[in-house]
Amino acid sequence: MKFGRVKPLDAILATAKAKSLEPTLGWFQLTLFGIGCVIGTGIFALTASGAQKAGPGLMLAFAIAGAICIVAALCYAEIAAMIPVAGSAYTYTYSVMGELLAWTVGWALVLEYAVAASAVSVTWSDYFQGTVIREFLGMQMPAWLSAGPLAFGGSPGGLINLPAVVIAAFVTWLLVVGTKESARFNAILVAIKVTALTAFLILTLPKVEMARFNPFLPAGVFGGFGTGIGAVGAAATIFFAYVGFDAVSTAAEETKNPQRNVPIGLIGSLLFCTVFYILVAAGAIGTIGGTPIMGPNGIPFPAGSEELARQCALPQYADSLVCSKEALAHVLRVIGFSTVGNMLGIAAFVALPSVILILIFGQTRIFFVMSRDGLLPEGLSKIHPKYKTPYVVTIITGAVVALSAAFLPVGKLADIANAGTLYAFMMVAIAVMMLRRTEPDRERRFRTPALWLVGPLTIAGCIFLFVNLPFEAMLVLPAWGAVGLVIYYAYSYKNSHLGRGHVMVTDLDNHPGETPAA
Ligand code: ALA
Repeated sequence: MKFGRVKPLDAILATAKAKSLEPTLGWFQLTLFGIGCVIGTGIFALTASGAQKAGPGLMLAFAIAGAICIVAALCYAEIAAMIPVAGSAYTYTYSVMGELLAWTVGWALVLEYAVAASAVSVTWSDYFQGTVIREFLGMQMPAWLSAGPLAFGGSPGGLINLPAVVIAAFVTWLLVVGTKESARFNAILVAIKVTALTAFLILTLPKVEMARFNPFLPAGVFGGFGTGIGAVGAAATIFFAYVGFDAVSTAAEETKNPQRNVPIGLIGSLLFCTVFYILVAAGAIGTIGGTPIMGPNGIPFPAGSEELARQCALPQYADSLVCSKEALAHVLRVIGFSTVGNMLGIAAFVALPSVILILIFGQTRIFFVMSRDGLLPEGLSKIHPKYKTPYVVTIITGAVVALSAAFLPVGKLADIANAGTLYAFMMVAIAVMMLRRTEPDRERRFRTPALWLVGPLTIAGCIFLFVNLPFEAMLVLPAWGAVGLVIYYAYSYKNSHLGRGHVMVTDLDNHPGETPAA
């Protein structure tokens, strides 16, 4: 199953050898790094839309999405340790399934990284407006500057989400000047996020009322194809809460004893987050309730719809979880802990930009490698003479992130990001299995345990979540893919270095002074 030219694995590995990073990371640093990449919008904001889709079944949704991410992570780890070069899923696909499919993966990863960065920017904006502007300054942003035109949660929509644009631009600037997130800084941010969530658990869990979990599945397990409703519909959305763990897999080459430490780091961080997320969902729903607002036919109004926004404007829903834009801070305020709620808001305000940074950085790295391969114009991979960063591609990525954050609501952005991520994860699982067959003797610093079970489970899990996304989000992937194919045949196919006979593999990390993610 090869589509188009295949980049020889030996050429790719030669680059990795040249780079030969000193293995320094242990399981603890890897776990911390994973938690740092992962905790963000998913838990701080999407808890509200997850509850609108599934009610208390949101807890089951976190378990389903977490389990699928754990098997996907095990596949990622094998290939990441084996082909440790920039571009991750894109590069792996290039070497195994050929240029055409690699292009589609690289193109889909734009949805994972850039669109996900927009979603986190919008959440940052919501926490900024709710905590800093409203709670601390006692003011309100003008409606037209506070959100994009589409309704979300309790908000009817505005014109442009200015704070989201500002944070995306700020993070882009940090990346252009070569800001590097150090392991120590990451550890501090992880501590801030984990402390905020732990405080949330300490204050909410003792107040949980079991009656609030009944009915547990008010919208059922399967809400129906394309509805994005029910426990699996919620799982497809809150899958976003786990996006970013692939960054851990790509640190495999820098890990001491990767056979032991990579799975501990990956599974450890994902299990930690899964358990934490389920408890946080229990704390939120068990205290203020998380029953969806039902439409006339007994089906929940779609999260992020105009109808839901109209309902949320009614006084009886003022305190409702499903209408909240800063879900966790809101819960604490409603149960009488306003000060801690505001501190949690500040924690989100401080820590979310690092998630945006990791995501935009991931995107620039993929564009960079695609441009060095000739699939995108080479001007994109220009390095800044002073800062030594790929500034052109960083600024373009930042502009795309800012633009989508300006006009789209967080729930839609997260669903679109999930569609692209699920496609990339599925391709990685296929690539790992194919490489086991085609290159059985090649050195693997980490081998996925029970690959012939874990690989198919990953593929099935990704398809399962994909078909449970809302219909529009599902459509975005083929539509985006079609645009990508037009570009591929109009430009990339002719300009591909491999197509022109150069088998050159370049890697951002070979340029001293560039910005590693962590
Ligand atoms: N998992 C990350 C978040 O929830 C992308 O923000």
